[in-house]
Amino acid sequence: MATEPFSISGGSLDPADWRSARAQGHRMLDDILDYIESIRERPVWQPIPDSARARFRDAVPTGSSDLAAVHDEFMRHILPYATGNTHPGFMGWVHGGGNVPGMLAEMLAAGLNANLGGRDHMPIEVERQITYWLRQLFEFPDTASGLFVSGTSMANLLGVLIARTRELGTGVRRDGVAAAGKRLVAYTSAGAHGCISQAMDLSGLGSSALHVIPTNENHQIDVDALKVAIARDRNAGLTPFLVVGTAGSVDTGAIDDLAALAAIASQERLSFHVDGAIGALAIMAPDIAPRLAGIQQADSIALDFHKWGQVPYDAGFILVRDGTLHRDTFASPAAYLRRETRGLAAGKLWPCDFGPDLSRGFRALKTWFTLKVYGTDALGAMISRTCQLARYLEIKIASSRELELLAPVSLNIVCFRYRGNDPDRLNAKIVADLHESGIAAPSTTVIGNRLAIRAAIVNHRTEPRDIDALLTAVSKFGAASATSCAA
Ligand SMILES: Cc1ncc(COP(=O)(O)O)c(C=O)c1O
Repeated sequence: MATEPFSISGGSLDPADWRSARAQGHRMLDDILDYIESIRERPVWQPIPDSARARFRDAVPTGSSDLAAVHDEFMRHILPYATGNTHPGFMGWVHGGGNVPGMLAEMLAAGLNANLGGRDHMPIEVERQITYWLRQLFEFPDTASGLFVSGTSMANLLGVLIARTRELGTGVRRDGVAAAGKRLVAYTSAGAHGCISQAMDLSGLGSSALHVIPTNENHQIDVDALKVAIARDRNAGLTPFLVVGTAGSVDTGAIDDLAALAAIASQERLSFHVDGAIGALAIMAPDIAPRLAGIQQADSIALDFHKWGQVPYDAGFILVRDGTLHRDTFASPAAYLRRETRGLAAGKLWPCDFGPDLSRGFRALKTWFTLKVYGTDALGAMISRTCQLARYLEIKIASSRELELLAPVSLNIVCFRYRGNDPDRLNAKIVADLHESGIAAPSTTVIGNRLAIRAAIVNHRTEPRDIDALLTAVSKFGAASATSCAA
């Protein structure tokens, strides 16, 4: 009788039988590669049956289980009910599609089980390599620092904290914001992501200290209105300290005039942070990069490799022009983290000096593999292709009598709706029907008080036929629902 490879013989959790553990590992790898290879044949998403959900309300497992049996549970009850963002029909929110080298790298990283909080080991050099590459892409100086974080929500929080330190000095870390006796205010556009307001909240400055500037007809920040707001706030005794520009807004993909924002920030002596969650990596696409002009002047850039970079989740990043300020915002010496001149504890600066996390995974490896295997030319071409698909969708909408476009298409995001009575209810229903059909998964947003079907073409697997399938299904569900919503 075959032994269960992970039966505990001694104290260790290592397999008792490495040969069968290896065979099971290969089966797991094959299964997930099969899944990705045949992803198109699956529904994008499917509702979770109550019976499957109920399996995840089990009591804590006190006894052991066979690895093959647990993997079988994964295959039957987890894998079929995933988000679906590996599927070419996934167009909701802003989700990357992942990639095979990145996935394999994640497995290698888990095998190494490296902790990138600090110490002297090669995984940290890999993370530094990504910082060097980003410095090059964004023309940042050699003194710029960088750090992997979970995502841009976290990177934006770090950006706000760094700008806060720049304005108030490092004493704010000890004494708090109130001690400064100043009311700091920041600016961003009405199209900015909600995590910027949350970052103001979490940093102790308060979300009401984020002054939201209206957008123009292209959904970009109105730079004249920004100048007026800064002057008005100074007159009122407030202390403007930060402008946050957006490179690819969440609703419409609009790119702020970053050069104008950089100039205002410089004149007004404000920090300039760019939320590049969606769009910053378009710096790799020669046809889009010129529209990011000004990003090179930012004090900090937040971006997500897990979106357009297609690196498996999660892989957010912050690049900071002034590495010293970055370190001064977070470094907290502790005896148990003492730096030495030799041995494993060598190195003056460790990643934990640049952010709040001490234990940190090896996000850099899957990013390094992705960038090395594909190169920025291919990744840039893939980014351009998703924008072309968005334009293809835009043209199809423009030529349809049933559909209307609700916002200009700036990058890879298309907001539209099906015409009909009670259009908000109708379009929300169409989107839910699309999800449940498994054909396509756009999301919704509200543009000018009108509910929009929002298709963000992020996935590198998406092709024109997926756009066609979306449109055919919207027509079908729209026609079917128009009657019920009108009733
Ligand atoms: C413009 C923008 N900023 C920030 C975020 C938050 O990024 P994350 O989900 O990686 O935290 C998003 C997410 O979609 C976004 O679109």
